[in-house]
Amino acid sequence: MEKTYLMVKPDGVQRNLIGEVVTRFEKKGFQLVGAKLMNIPRELAEEHYGEHKERPFFGELVDFITSGPVFAMVWQGENVIATARQMMGATNPKDAAPGTIRGDFGVTVGKNIIHGSDSPESAAREMGLFFKQEELAEHSKLI
Ligand code: CMP
Repeated sequence: MEKTYLMVKPDGVQRNLIGEVVTRFEKKGFQLVGAKLMNIPRELAEEHYGEHKERPFFGELVDFITSGPVFAMVWQGENVIATARQMMGATNPKDAAPGTIRGDFGVTVGKNIIHGSDSPESAAREMGLFFKQEELAEHSKLI
């Protein structure tokens, strides 16, 4: 079963949007297999966002993601990686369609509520950075 890494960012946690985000993915029909509220250590944030290291906003990005707790999650389901990205909306909330998470709740590109893996490779990498295998649940195969 395909899995992806999703995370409510510090702005989403502070604005009490964890429940809203979880509800959307639950109602869609995906299964939550791992979740925790955590403060990201700076080194982990730098590794997670390593592909943006040369960007001018890298320092700001790391400062922000370590500024308060995030709600880290692993979800599973058919095509969950691409579908979750559609449900999140465009990276910049000004371009995100109404009905998407960023379109409904975000305003600026830095504080865009949620992060989601963009490919199977980044999903595997990011799940490994944030979760140990034993922190992930197995759902009943009978349902
Ligand atoms: P995310 O999906 O978490 O992956 C990289 C993040 O960089 C992205 O969401 C944005 O929040 C952030 N980002 C992209 N462009 C900018 C920018 N110009 N200034 C600040 N943050 C940015």
